Amino acid sequence: MTKIELATGVYWVGAIDWNLRDFHGYTTPRGGTYNAYLIVDDKIALVDTVKHGFADEMLGRIREIIDPVKIDYVISNHVEMDHSGSLSDIMGIVPNAEVICTEKGKEGLIRHFRGKWNFRAVKTGDELKLGNKTLSFITAPMLHWPDNMFTYLKEDKILLSNDGFGQHLASSFRFDEDVCSLTGYDCDIVMDEAAKYYANILMPFGGVILKKIEEIQKLGIEIKMIAPSHGMIWTDPGKIINAYLQWAKGESKQKVLVIYDTMWNSTETMANDILRGVSDSGVEVSLFHLRKTEWSEIVKEVLESKAILIGSPTLNNGMFPTVGGFLTYLMGLRPRNKLWATFGSYGWAGGAVKAVNEKLKSGGYESVESIEVIFRPDEQDIEKCYALGQKIASMVKAS
Ligand code: FEO
Repeated sequence: MTKIELATGVYWVGAIDWNLRDFHGYTTPRGGTYNAYLIVDDKIALVDTVKHGFADEMLGRIREIIDPVKIDYVISNHVEMDHSGSLSDIMGIVPNAEVICTEKGKEGLIRHFRGKWNFRAVKTGDELKLGNKTLSFITAPMLHWPDNMFTYLKEDKILLSNDGFGQHLASSFRFDEDVCSLTGYDCDIVMDEAAKYYANILMPFGGVILKKIEEIQKLGIEIKMIAPSHGMIWTDPGKIINAYLQWAKGESKQKVLVIYDTMWNSTETMANDILRGVSDSGVEVSLFHLRKTEWSEIVKEVLESKAILIGSPTLNNGMFPTVGGFLTYLMGLRPRNKLWATFGSYGWAGGAVKAVNEKLKSGGYESVESIEVIFRPDEQDIEKCYALGQKIASMVKAS
């Protein structure tokens, strides 16, 4: 195996999950990675382990560099099992190594592994000297769980950010710039996956992310590289930090999304008329049928769009099940600064649009306008839908 060195004595020793297609509910068509890092100095530290089942791959990479029995410290930046799943394999080899994590991390690891390991709980500002290299810890609660922390390599100016700034992307390359320059892929593939990851995993924590970035800026530390525990290593940290600032503030493109399901095409007809209204106003618009596009893909579009129109046919006096399921998922992700509108249809008794509006309200959102039609939309209904598209487009332009 070729050794991957981020800086002298700092190695990537993670695992690539080429066949990952679903990560606790969101699709990962490009696979994923579980990154772990080995820091070799007078003392040796392993930062994060990998998902259970990938321990041998990680150990194989470590053995290329050192004998794993020489590991002195295991830094657990996050308890979740995609990063700590192989901790017991490592501790089986080095039972006396110190496990360094936050207090919450310690609680979680003890609960999960029932392990009586030699724990050291750390907080922001605590440091660990390995020799010439110093590890500095920064707690990062809710990025992505309460236990998370970052590990900063002071002399090398590398931030090991665990879930923060990650992407699910399997590749034989490890650095963002290599994906761009050495493959035939579109250069935006890394940023595209980072956006999908942010939207589906970190979007609820926008406020926390803004504060954490501000706190790191106040610490005055220089960051030359961000090495997350998923996906590519950022050699241009400014690019992903700026994207996170934008997403966390709820800044989006002048773009409209029309998301719907349909039974007998009435709601679909309305969706297309709304789309025409937006498009004729010169604003970008995309349309998604909830049974034809995977939801985590739609959520990434939500992150990047200013206005969201939700359409549902009526079923059993309420909204269509896919619309209800999607809204439950979306409300949990708490998208910020969006304009909302709703539409739908019914045969003999309405209820879908009211139910969608109530669901939005439960998340603290309000529909700026709602249209509900009986049976098939007639000419007047079509005009109304077209006008709604135009109205939303002008609101987006003015925002
Ligand atoms: Fe990548 Fe929160 O685990």
